[in-house]
Parts: sequence; C-alpha cells; structure tokens
Amino acid sequence: MYIIAVAGTGYVGLVAGVCFAEIGHQVTCVDIDENKVNLMKKGISPIYEADLGDLMQKNYAAGKIDYTTDYRSAYKNADAIFIGVGTPEQSDGSADLSYIATVARQIAETIENDCLVVVKSTVPVGTNDKVEQFIKDFLVNDVKVEVASNPEFLAQGSAVHDTLHAARIIIGTESKWAEEMLMKIYQPFNLPIVSVNRRSAEMIKYAANDFLALKISYMNDIANLCESVGADIQDVARGMSFDERIGSKFLNAGIGYGGSCFPKDTKALEYLARQDGYELRTIKAAIGVNKDQKTMLYKKACRRLITFNGLKVAVLGLTFKPGTDDLREAPSLENVPLLLEQGADIYAYDPVGADNFKNKYPAGKNSRGSITYVDKPEQALEGANVCFIFTEWGEIKAVEPGTYKEQMRTPLVYDGRNIYELADMNEAWVEYYSIGRPFIK
Ligand code: UGA
Repeated sequence: MYIIAVAGTGYVGLVAGVCFAEIGHQVTCVDIDENKVNLMKKGISPIYEADLGDLMQKNYAAGKIDYTTDYRSAYKNADAIFIGVGTPEQSDGSADLSYIATVARQIAETIENDCLVVVKSTVPVGTNDKVEQFIKDFLVNDVKVEVASNPEFLAQGSAVHDTLHAARIIIGTESKWAEEMLMKIYQPFNLPIVSVNRRSAEMIKYAANDFLALKISYMNDIANLCESVGADIQDVARGMSFDERIGSKFLNAGIGYGGSCFPKDTKALEYLARQDGYELRTIKAAIGVNKDQKTMLYKKACRRLITFNGLKVAVLGLTFKPGTDDLREAPSLENVPLLLEQGADIYAYDPVGADNFKNKYPAGKNSRGSITYVDKPEQALEGANVCFIFTEWGEIKAVEPGTYKEQMRTPLVYDGRNIYELADMNEAWVEYYSIGRPFIK
C-alpha cells in the first residue's frame, strides 16, 4: 500500500484516484475548487461518468480516499504524487502547461519525503524532463524526487472500466527506483505493463490517440468517396474488419471526431513536429478531413432546401458522443450556430448534455432563429421540417423509423451517426441521408 496524492480531479485525476483507492492504496485528491471538494466528500461525482459515484462513496466510507484543497497536507508525506491537471489547447495548437507548472512548484515547496511525481496529463514529448528540472530548481527540502510519465488511455463514458481493465499500463521512467515503484503501485491491477523511457511514454500517448483520429478521418474520407461512387461505407468497413491487421474498432464513419482529446492531441503533435521543422502530413490531413466532416450534413441539407428560415429543425444529440455530458468539439457546436444564423427554429434533445448546451445557447430567440429544449426525441420531431442526428444515444437509436414519418411535417432526416438501416427508413417513407451510404428515395 502506498500513500498517493492526486493533483486535479478532472476525468484523468479523479478516476485514477478512485481506482487507486479501490485496489488498496491510501489516496488524497487535491483540487482548488472548495465546492467541488465538498461534493466529492459526499460521494457526488463532479463529472458524468458511469460507476464513479458508487466507487467514490464506497472508498470514502472505507477511509481509503479523501479530498482536499490543502495541497500541503496531501503532498507532504506522499510516496507518489500523480498529476492529472488539464493541458488545454492554446490558439496556436500548442498545449498550455501552466497548470502542470503550478502543481510542480507546489510539490517542490512542500514535499518532506522522497517522492515519485507521476505525470498522467497528456504533455508534449520532453515536458517531463523539464518538469523534473523545475521541481529540483524549486525544491525546499533535501529529498529525492523524480518524475515519471504514465499516460492515461481511458475514454469518457467508460472511464472506470477502462482504468480497471486497461489494455496496458504505460510507464516511462529514467531510473530503476522509479520503475520499480510504479510497477508496485500498479501490481494489484494485474494488467500488462509496458516500461519504456520517459520520452517514449509521452510519445506513445500522442501516437495512439492520433492513430485513432487518423483511422476515423480515413474512414470518413473513404465514406465521402463511397457516396460519389455508390458504395456503402458500412459494408466496406465490415469487409475490412475481418483483417486482423486492420481490426474492427474505430471504423465507424460519421460526422467527425470531437471531445477533449483527439482534436487537441492531433493539433499538439502537429505543432510539436512543426517546432522541430518537420511536417506531420498524415496528421495534418486527419485534422483537415475532420474539420470538413463536421458540417458535411449541413451542406448536404443546404443543397436540398432553399432555406432554413422559419423551418422547425429537430436536433437529436448535442454531446460529442454518448455516455457523457461533455460538449467539447461536439459537431452540434458547429452546426447549431449555422442553423440559427439561417433562421431555423431548433427543437433540441439530449438526455444529459442539454443543460451544458443551454449555458452556451439559452432557450429562446438566438441570432435569426430560436432554440427550444425538449425532454423526449418525439417532442423535437413533432411537426418538424427536418431532423439532424448528431449523437448516437440509446434513447435516439430507440426512435422507430416510422416515428419520423408520423411525427414530422416532412420526414427529412440527416443522420451523422448512421444509426438506421437504409431499408428500414426507406420502408417507413423517410427521406434519409446519412454518411457514406447510398441515398434511396
Ligand atoms: C479518447 C481515446 O479513445 C482514449 O483512449 C483516450 O484515453 C482519450 O481520448 C484521452 O486522450 O483522454 P474519448 O475522447 O473519451 O477517448 O472518446 P472516444 O470514444 O475515443 O471518441 C472520440 C471521438 O471519436 C467521438 O467524437 C466519437 O464519436 C468519434 N468516433 C469514435 C468516430 O467518429 N468513429 C469511431 O469509429 C469511433
């Protein structure tokens, strides 16, 4: 059992802290937000994430995890401090490391024992060398401190499961002491551990995320070609997936990838390469394809309709994917403003993301149009002239093809997630446009 402190209680930090407590370590999570800390002590998760609240309550009651704003008490005697604070994208595509720097300085000024600092946040290759030097420069007490890289591979919506059943743990260290300690911390997870040097670990995170982004953009590119040559991307993907070298996952064409990771990490790696005078052409292409993909359906609809002005437009799904209330880089954020500018009266449905969306687009008149939030997909469809599907929530997939025909004034559907069979929509007399599949009228 190790005494572990975790800096930052976002997706990465909080989930890691709770899972470390679950496997037997003594954990203190640090956050600057007092209200958030008080909520977490009550077992209330500040993020929408399956299973997290239950594990928080269980481990808090068992005295295995605590939450505090007092970083001094948490860091002072910790064996290891995991950093999981944000590294948001700056306007030039580079990562903002100011939160990491703040935590590094606090660590340097407070630790009283030998301590391994483990960076879980996604940081540009070479950052952890600098973090280690930075901590050593500001170190107050005469203790041993080293920095290790331990990137995170959890996906939102399945974060706890992804952590407890990860495909692999990546540890990047520069000494036997650091490597052995991280191995021991992770031993109870009973998962494959890949031990590499610090820079390779940092690179693995970007290379893995960017590869997945590339895979999606590649499928979207092929999907767009399928439309012009009369092929069906879902059949094409199925045919490809039997080849184990390609695999069956992340082959779903759609309205582009969003979230807090792929968009940020593709731009950060491209920026890093550019700083080194290297042009990362594949990733540049993935970024370009994704940008265009997000408004693909809107452009398709513009070719079909004279105007959106005064039309009732149903929008089903606002979050960047199901299972989360996160809107970051969601296709809805690209398309809703375009529709409002064109004078559309939007009726929006999302099972968990509507409140966050309301903060950006309050209900009522907006631009030349308006937006109304509804509690059921059917309410959005009632009397609608056109429907856009942006997220494949179960509640949206459960809407029967016939419902579009029954509820809408004109059953015209633009589906960015290919959730329906073409034949079913055809049979239900729905004019159905999707991604990379033939259009049957
Ligand atoms: C992603 C990675 O999957 C995680 O492994 C990684 O740890 C995480 O980023 C991170 O760096 O923190 P996440 O952004 O939560 O996780 O979500 P994904 O499930 O990967 O989906 C990302 C986007 O790709 C979504 O917009 C989704 O709709 C889209 N996508 C995914 C597709 O368009 N097609 C697919 O086949 C798969």
